[in-house]
Amino acid sequence: MNPLAEQLNENLKAGNIHVYEMLSTLGKEIYFPKEGILSQSAEAAAGAKKYNATIGIATEDGGPMHLSAIQETLSAYKPQDLYPYAPPAGKPELRSAWREKMIAENPSIADKSFGNPVVTNALTHGLSIVADLFVDEGDAVIFPDKNWENYELTFGIRRHGVIVNYPLFTEDMKFNSQGLREALLSQKDKGKAIVILNFPNNPTGYTPGAKEGDEIVAAITEAAEAGINVVVVTDDAYFGLFFEESLSESLFGRLAGRHPRILPVKVDGATKEEYVWGFRVGFITYAAEDAAVLSALEQKTLGIIRATISSGAHPSQTFVLHALKSPEFHAQKAEKFRVMKGRANKVKALLDSGKYGDVWEYYPFNSGYFMCLKLKNVNAETLRQHLIREYGVGTIALGDTDLRIAFSCIAEENLEDLFDLVYRGVQDLQA
Ligand SMILES: Cc1ncc(COP(=O)(O)O)c(C=O)c1O
Repeated sequence: MNPLAEQLNENLKAGNIHVYEMLSTLGKEIYFPKEGILSQSAEAAAGAKKYNATIGIATEDGGPMHLSAIQETLSAYKPQDLYPYAPPAGKPELRSAWREKMIAENPSIADKSFGNPVVTNALTHGLSIVADLFVDEGDAVIFPDKNWENYELTFGIRRHGVIVNYPLFTEDMKFNSQGLREALLSQKDKGKAIVILNFPNNPTGYTPGAKEGDEIVAAITEAAEAGINVVVVTDDAYFGLFFEESLSESLFGRLAGRHPRILPVKVDGATKEEYVWGFRVGFITYAAEDAAVLSALEQKTLGIIRATISSGAHPSQTFVLHALKSPEFHAQKAEKFRVMKGRANKVKALLDSGKYGDVWEYYPFNSGYFMCLKLKNVNAETLRQHLIREYGVGTIALGDTDLRIAFSCIAEENLEDLFDLVYRGVQDLQA
């Protein structure tokens, strides 16, 4: 094993042996090279005042070489904020700004010990870093039966984790923390599990309330007390879009500092929150009591980044940083929140109006981009195809009964027409 990896592992063992035990083989072996091109370049950037002939970019007139054809459309930004490589951990200012935003929006973490967010190529990349660092063949990866389909590829296919699903809802349509608890406790023999919490949930648009939040934290704590090492990932992709009474902070805060066998990992980003899906800017943040543990986890994360994408795109980090610092940012976000909440409320009013008879129920929703119908008499995939063909309406079929509707991309005034057409589609198939 590389001595740097060994040193990080020793630091983890000394700081919290359970975090070391949670690592995959790759997680144990990975490290961020200290004496490679990047560190020599960093040293040169600080000290080589005459000629800096280190890293592989080209310079001209004291700045990064660039083409006018590109710069002329980006003239609001300085070339040095666009063209050079961003550091593997991301632009330092962006990392601090995101950390501040995280604390402002999650007061429960203000007094907790957690690291500096590391920039990822958006949330998918953050999740795959978690998979690389913590999932070995056969490790249990626990998440509900209604989930973002990509977890299967990231944790199952790519890392050979064993996917353990539990029903998201209880019979009275609350979060099934008992299901989570049982799935966790059934991993006692393995002594390890990776749990993914995703609120607002994709596909249902559900975020639990305070009592359910307490139960989730209690279930995870019980597993930790039973000797199971639990990596808890909060996939906070749709964070902030809470339209009704529900938790409005990430459970990352509640889990931080809770138990030495719980490692909370927050995966979040600008993708959905700031409406910049294609920018690919996300973050991964760890909570741990010991500074050396946080530092070792950051180094290992940087090792994975260096080995896969080397560093994230610089321009989009600059754009997001600019937005976070803009005096208009909060007002503009509040305006978009109002639009999204208006759509969610409208959908609920339509569904509760009684006009759609008895052809579907809907799963509880109170947040995020989506809601899900539960069809009573027709197959979801048959309906989906019929809706496209006959009415030019696109929806997502999930399993036999569920139809996901992204109200996030339908104007409020068109929602009634949309649901009328879906209803008509169901009637056509029933006839
Ligand atoms: C729950 C959830 N997590 C993560 C992602 C991925 O986000 P990103 O586009 O930032 O990779 C999505 C996107 O659909 C999602 O729904």
